[in-house]
Order: sequence, then structure tokens, then C-alpha cells
Amino acid sequence: MPSPTRFWSELKNSLQDRTNAGLFRSRRTWDHLSPRLVADERGQQLVNFGSNDYLSLSWYHPSPCTPSPCIDGIPENPATREGAGASPLITGSTREHDELAKEIARFEHEEGAILFSSGFAANVGVVSSVAGSDDIIFSDRLNHASLIDGCRLSRAKTIVYPHNDLEALQKLLKQHRHEGRRAFVVTDSLFSMDGDVPDLKVMRRLIEENDLIGILDEAHATGVYGVRGTGLVEHLAAESDRWIRTGTLSKAVGSVGGFVAGPKTLIDWLTNFARSYIYSTAAPASQLRRTLAAIRKLETMSIERDTLRSNAINLRQALRELGLCVGGADSPIVAIYATSVGEVMAWSHRLRERGLLVPAIRPPTVPDDGCLLRISMNTSHTSDDLTSLVDAFR
Ligand SMILES: Cc1ncc(COP(=O)(O)O)c(C=O)c1O
Repeated sequence: MPSPTRFWSELKNSLQDRTNAGLFRSRRTWDHLSPRLVADERGQQLVNFGSNDYLSLSWYHPSPCTPSPCIDGIPENPATREGAGASPLITGSTREHDELAKEIARFEHEEGAILFSSGFAANVGVVSSVAGSDDIIFSDRLNHASLIDGCRLSRAKTIVYPHNDLEALQKLLKQHRHEGRRAFVVTDSLFSMDGDVPDLKVMRRLIEENDLIGILDEAHATGVYGVRGTGLVEHLAAESDRWIRTGTLSKAVGSVGGFVAGPKTLIDWLTNFARSYIYSTAAPASQLRRTLAAIRKLETMSIERDTLRSNAINLRQALRELGLCVGGADSPIVAIYATSVGEVMAWSHRLRERGLLVPAIRPPTVPDDGCLLRISMNTSHTSDDLTSLVDAFR
């Protein structure tokens, strides 16, 4: 079985070439002291000519009861500053970014982590920076738009395999693997519309046997799967140094932003080559503090995760007993398939009349033959809520 060493050493060598050319980039951490002053890691104060905060409004607070002295709505206390004012490699990275990245790395049991402005940006940035025009990508037919766009931007040859059909994937690998210098499988872990998951253990075997790297979007699985809540790889015990896993802070974490946790080489690579990271403003500080607390909390919520999934199993069973075509196994995304756009819209409308909001999902979000009602469950739903839902379908 080939080892993934070649992939990682190629990344390392390219990074070394960058370093030799004086082009290697790494994130600096800045303390923003006032609208005009920053301090570097050693505490040296500098007048900041590196921000896009042209009117100093990242410091503006509309409330007159700001907890610190305030001149024309601009407080002197940096803790109340909002916008980062610049992209992460210019002056946008602060202690809060550093702390959150370290916390995510600890949570994921990885060497490091990198923050993106959204999960969409993380996916686009990862796929388009690790794959190139000499490579081949095998991509699930129902992948999220951000993975699809990442494949397009990478310029790699992309072969789409039928949804979660790993036998079909195996056949396609036999036919096409040799067409790419490097090869990738790209997939959602928990599919956002259909609520189902790939068999990651089988996929890991295919990845190992065919010398692939797997890019796995854990967006909806973070917080939902795994005892610690890190996602489907943890839940299925499918760990491998051939996965590159992406995540979002906007679903179960309840905030906004995307991330990748992984070995230092990967984090250095993304810092240097992921354009959606390099050329986009860093996240605001208040959001980062909240996110950090949410991740710590999420890690302790295994009982809630179990409840959520057992409620999802029960709901699916009740809906199937009514003769409905229901997707997935135990995830909190429960898809109910309709036969046409008209039918799915009518269902959604009638549920709404009964006080139940269940969005209808139509093309192009899903393929033409895939109209569905998407029920997203959460731990605040009561058993009465779930009974009302089943009664409405009945
Ligand atoms: C599977 C999947 N990946 C990525 C994203 C993008 O995440 P974000 O909303 O943080 O940009 C979404 C959000 O819709 C998603 O469903």
C-alpha cells in the first residue's frame, strides 16, 4: 500500500522553494491598541499603516454606554473593537484569531489550524490550492457547491461519481486513476440536503489502495457526530493521514467562519496558497471570542448529540411508517423526497399552515430528480413538536 508521504513531501518541498525565494508567508499576531496603533508579538508599538479601516469605524460603538471612554463613538478599549480591518497576512490577525486557531487544533487533535471567513471559503481554498491541472479529482454528485467550485478552480480533471456509490467510485478509479499525477476524492461527510453519510471506512480503504488524498467537508457533522463532536471521521473511527478535513463554524457551532485543522505542512500550504484565505478580511474579534466558548461547550455535549440522533431515528421511523420516502439513517437532517417541484412546494405550504416551517428544496440546489423537504432537527425541539410534525404528515 503506498504511503501518503509523497503528497506531503511535495507540499513541503514547494514550501521550501518559496522560503528560499524569500516568499514564504506566515501569520503575524497584532494587538490593536487604538485606531492608529498596533503592537507586535514582542510588544513593540507601531503606527498602523496596514489596515483598510479608512474611517476607523471598526472601533465605532453605536451605544453611548460603551464600557470604556469614548471619543465620537470610538472607544479607547481595544476589547470593543469589531472589524479586523485587514486580511490575515497583512494586519488582520489578532490574539483572538491565534487563540481560536489553537483551540480548534486542540479540539481536533491536530498540529495546527487555519481560520477562513466561511466554510465556503475553506472548501474553495483547500480544493483549489492542493489540486492542480495535472491532477484528477473524483467528486460525489451531490457535493456542496463550494466543493464543486473548488474543483473547477483547481483546473484538475474532475470525474463525478454517483452519490455515495463507492462501488461505482472503485470502478471509476480503475478506469481513470492513472490520468492524474495526484488524485483526490472530494466529498461532504454529512450531506447537507439528503442527510446521509458516506461509508468512510470503505472510502479510506479506496483512498489507501489507490494512493489518493481524501478531502472531506465535515460542515454538518461537526458537533453532531463523534463523542467529542469533531465529526464523522471520529464517529466511524476512520482516521487516516490521507484525509484533509474542512469544517465550518456556522452550523452546530452557531457562529460564522470556516476552518481546517491538520499537520503544520498543510496549514503552511493553505497560508501560502489558499486564495480565499489570503485575499479576504479576517473575522471580527467579538465573533471569535463567542466561537471559542461555543467550541469548548460543544465538546461536552455528547448527551445532547445522542439525544439528537435518537430523536432523528425515531422521526424517520414514524415518517417511513406513513409510507413516505425518507433519506439517511440517524443524522438530524431528515430528507423527505417528493416526485415534483409542485408536490414539494404544496407539502411545505400545507405544513406552514399548521405552524411548521419545513423548507422545500428544489433545483438547482438539488438535481432535477431530487426535490425534497428538508427537516433540520435541533435539541430544543420538544416531543410535542415532533408529534405535531408526524401528525401533519399523517
Ligand atoms: C456541506 C456544506 N459545506 C460548506 C458549507 C458552507 O459553509 P458556510 O455557510 O460556513 O460558508 C455549507 C453551508 O451551506 C454546507 O452545507
